[in-house]
Formats: sequence, C-alpha cells, structure tokens
Amino acid sequence: MKHIKDIDCNQKKVFLRTDFNVPMDEQLNITDDSRIKRALPTLKHLIDNNSAIIIASHLGRPKGSYNPQLSLKPVVKRLSDILGKKVVFCDDFTSSEGKKLIDNIKSGEILFLENLRFYSSEEKNDTDFAKQLADLCDIYVNDAFGLAHRAHASVYAITKFAKVSCAGFLLYQEYDYLKKVMQNPQRPLVAIIGGAKVSSKIAALKNLLNYADKIIIAGAVANTFLKAKGIDMAASKIDNEAIEGAKAIMEIAEQKNIPLYFPQDCIAAQKISSDADFGKFDINDIPLDYMALDIGLKSFKTFQKALKDAKTIIWSGTFGIFEVFYPFGYGTQSMADIITETSAFTLIGGGDTVAAINKLGLSEKVSYISTGGGAFLSFLAGKQMPAIEAFN
Ligand code: 3PG
Repeated sequence: MKHIKDIDCNQKKVFLRTDFNVPMDEQLNITDDSRIKRALPTLKHLIDNNSAIIIASHLGRPKGSYNPQLSLKPVVKRLSDILGKKVVFCDDFTSSEGKKLIDNIKSGEILFLENLRFYSSEEKNDTDFAKQLADLCDIYVNDAFGLAHRAHASVYAITKFAKVSCAGFLLYQEYDYLKKVMQNPQRPLVAIIGGAKVSSKIAALKNLLNYADKIIIAGAVANTFLKAKGIDMAASKIDNEAIEGAKAIMEIAEQKNIPLYFPQDCIAAQKISSDADFGKFDINDIPLDYMALDIGLKSFKTFQKALKDAKTIIWSGTFGIFEVFYPFGYGTQSMADIITETSAFTLIGGGDTVAAINKLGLSEKVSYISTGGGAFLSFLAGKQMPAIEAFN
C-alpha cells in the first residue's frame, strides 16, 4: 500500500475517497464530526501541495437512488467551516453541469461530489462506474478506513483503472496501528465485546480467542451467551440464531484456558425509556417481563478486577443502552472511566462505543480510536479487507 506522502501530488488532480458517513439527527445536524476531522491530515497535505481535490464519500444506505435525507450537503458545509475554505458541491458528476465543474477545477480548489451510493453501480463494484471515477483524476487516494471491509467501486474496482493509487494518512495509520496492536500487543491483552448485535460479533470473538488473554462479554451480546449457558434471561434481547456460535466460543475458550467474563447482575426494566420502572437484579433472577438493559455493580466490580493488570485493552460495544443514559447508561460510563484511567494501551472502535466515549468527553484519554464500525469488527474477526487488498 503506497502512502500519499511518497507520491508527488503537486498541482495534480486528486480523487480523495473518504468515509464521511457521519451520524446526523432528524434535522440533519451532524452529531459527531470526528470522521471529518480525522481526514484533515490528508486534506491539509493535498492543500499544501496545491492539488485540485475532488472528494467523494457515501452517507447512509440509500440503495442506489436519490434521497434528500442522505445528501452530503451538510457534510460539505461542515468541512468548509472546519477548513475555513470554500468547498464546491457537485450534485451529479455524470451530468454536463457536473462534468464542467470537474473539468474546470483548479489547483488548490476543492470539489465535493454528492453521495456515491445514489448511484447503484457504486455498491455493485461496477467496473464502468469505477473507470468513470478513475478518469476524473491523476491520483486516487483512499482514506476511507471505515469502508475497508466493502468491495465497492470507489474503493475496490477503481484501483484497477486509476493511474496512481495510494492510501491517505488515516487509512494507512489505522491499518498499521490495528495490525500492530493485534499482532504484537503488550500482555495481558483484554478484549471487551459488548453492544446490541451478537451476529456481527461472533466472528470477532472467535478470532480474538487467538490473541486475547481474557475476554469480557457485555451488552446485549452477553444476553445470548448467558442464555446459551442455560440462564433464563426473561424478556431480554436474545439472538437465538447465535446461540450455537456462542456455545462454540465458550467451548474454545475453555479448551484454550481463556477466561470469559459475563455480567452477574443487571439493571432491568419492561421498556427502554427514561421513565421506565427499573430494578437491580441478579442475572439468575430477572422478572419474567423484564429486559436486562445495563450491568449492575457486581458485574462492574468483576470486570474492573479482570482489567486490573491489563496492558492492552481492545473495546467495541457498549455495556447497556447508553442512549437512554438514565437509567441504562451508567454501566458504560463507569467502565469507560476505568478503561481510560488505566495505564494500558487502549484501542476503541465501533460507532456506538466511539460516540459514547466522545459524549463522555473521554476521547483524549484513549490511546487510539478507530473510525471503523463494521470495518473495525471485520479487522478483529481477521477477515480480508477488500479495499486494502485492492492495492495489491
Ligand atoms: C460505517 O459507518 O461503518 C461505514 O461507513 C460503512 O457503512 P455501511 O455499513 O453502510 O457500508
């Protein structure tokens, strides 16, 4: 993978693929712009080199058709504010108007293309579409680590057609960092896997058994494991299809002598709402129509003990429903406090976990925060990363 700093970008036309798939509220206000800020080293490098910059990204999952709710206009505005520089928006690079904008872009200028996923060819990894994108530029730069697990036209097929392809500062740094932490960690390495979706975590947990010394399993992911252990989880969210996978992980962990830590108590309620009537229960004693929605004090103490000697901590997935902070966010907050207070090297990834860390104002205390959600999990699962393989 060539690094952008080894390529002559001076006065060149550069196509920069970013992952500016940022969270927004219903009024289309960006609620977390960290993915935009993390692309700044690459952007500044290109600006310093007087490149003509064409930026592209996706936003959400519009499935190949125009959706005004998923326009990148708010992102263009935020980027322009951050850079203090004009960024021209191009609503369709295939139209004659769009082509004119691209033909006329000058060194030092920035053009931002509308959501690439408005074109169905993008997710199909269509070669004609990829060629069309590659033809826009002299140099193709991929800085979208968050999309590294997808084989889409603007990150995969494009590398076949671009005259020069390279990785931006962020993509390079993320891949390099993650590889180092997994392959050569300071031990003990403790992995923490929480969050809502078990199916997306099973592969990561299986692969982590090859690297971790201890694994803490929390959040709704833990519910399925606890059910697989024979515990009645009452009305808690369970993924029945993942039960066998959970059992397999527990068996391998036992064979390999890797301790797994699960919640022993929980905060449970009948509904996910701040006005819910909630209670604290032993995990074996959850009332029939109650759901486990956060960890209790006993679990916190067990997890704290498991982390005590950790030299490396990899964390993905919250411990409870962090969005409904009262009364289900305190588990995540208390765990985030101890994780960021340790002297261990801390690596955090996954959209919800990173959003929680940012909201708690703890991001500065984390050794490395990955911008990847699905990409981070794919990496933990040891899966191939098509957008990185494409460079080969
Ligand atoms: C992400 O937010 O994880 C990436 O932008 C990928 O988005 P996707 O899961 O919609 O492909």
